[in-house]
Amino acid sequence: MSVYAIWNNKGGVGKSYLTFQIACEYARTHPNENVLVVDMCPQANSSSMLLGGIEAGERNLEVLSGMTPPRTISGYIADRIVSPYVNTNSGANYLTQIHSLNAWVPRNLFLVCGDEELEMQAAGIRLACSAGPADSWRIVHTWISDLIDDVKHSWNQENITVFIDCNPSFTIYTELAIAASDRLILPFSADGSSKRAVRSVLSLVYGVLRRPGQSQSEFFRNIERYRMALPQIYSYVGNRLTQMNNSSASAFRTVVLEIFGEVFRVWQADPSNFCVHPNGNPAPTSRTGFRAMFEAQINDANTASVVSGALGIPICRLTAGTKNFAGRQVQVNQSQLDKQLPNIRDFVASIE
Ligand SMILES: Nc1ncnc2c1ncn2[C@@H]1O[C@H](COP(=O)(O)OP(=O)(O)OP(=O)(O)O)[C@@H](O)[C@H]1O
Ligand SMILES: [Mg+2]
Repeated sequence: MSVYAIWNNKGGVGKSYLTFQIACEYARTHPNENVLVVDMCPQANSSSMLLGGIEAGERNLEVLSGMTPPRTISGYIADRIVSPYVNTNSGANYLTQIHSLNAWVPRNLFLVCGDEELEMQAAGIRLACSAGPADSWRIVHTWISDLIDDVKHSWNQENITVFIDCNPSFTIYTELAIAASDRLILPFSADGSSKRAVRSVLSLVYGVLRRPGQSQSEFFRNIERYRMALPQIYSYVGNRLTQMNNSSASAFRTVVLEIFGEVFRVWQADPSNFCVHPNGNPAPTSRTGFRAMFEAQINDANTASVVSGALGIPICRLTAGTKNFAGRQVQVNQSQLDKQLPNIRDFVASIE
């Protein structure tokens, strides 16, 4: 039971899609636990999928963000902008039990919904980092941890599993999300710029310098200064791998190998940045062992993925057949489901 940030500095790699699928599957396979998703992205894509997809989900988003105060992350952040350095203990007020709005999602999955207002609040958050006591930065960077603690107390649970969907850019609210997390899931896609994005993550969060003389990120320096904990890298996840033909498969292998190289260098420099798992396992001693522990793969499920997101039906509950959405009929094939389902199941089984 931990707090997982799903983040890559690159857009469109599947952070929101994976948050949706992983959180639903984790909740389904842990029916006796309450599970929380915090959507820290103003685009609110994972919220939209969780709340029912492009039609119902978008409507539900409108309702939640139109409440007074909004029952979204922005409602909570507004409380904290007013009271930056004194905990408002108000986090649990912003929870939504998703099942009441989207019956495809397990009853034990809860959401602090994303909100486009977060973008507007960024300036206020940044100001709070410097306006108050000497350790303002530290206090502001515990806001999301405070929110999670509020939820724990309201559920009367000491430990809960939390998935935080993040915005790609390393804005102040992404910093807050990363600072609240114990573990990092790093999705990447097969294109050429993935390596650069992974390097950015390693440099922004873990202070890995890309060239001599480069300065470390303010985030990393402040985390050190205030002796705060960083999330440990849990997994780097190749998402939407195309295995249609041999040439794309080999191009993809090259990208994966390059990213493995980047992440492995960080491991060699400081293994404490990684979360050895499953708990109790010895740390890997070889490249193969490292990859077996930290590397994962989620295949592209093509139309099945589109339908899953558009209707807010987790892929593990989606069935083959003709589906209707947005006035169109589309066909979901079992072969598409079979491509991705085992990956999601295996990956979720590795989460503890
Ligand atoms: N494994 C997958 N199979 C098929 N489609 C996928 C898969 N993963 C993601 N997608 C699709 O790829 C697109 C981008 O995914 P998503 O929105 O999750 O990326 P993101 O990293 O959250 O983007 P952003 O940086 O904008 O927040 C979406 O249309 C999503 O449905
Ligand atoms: Mg997203």
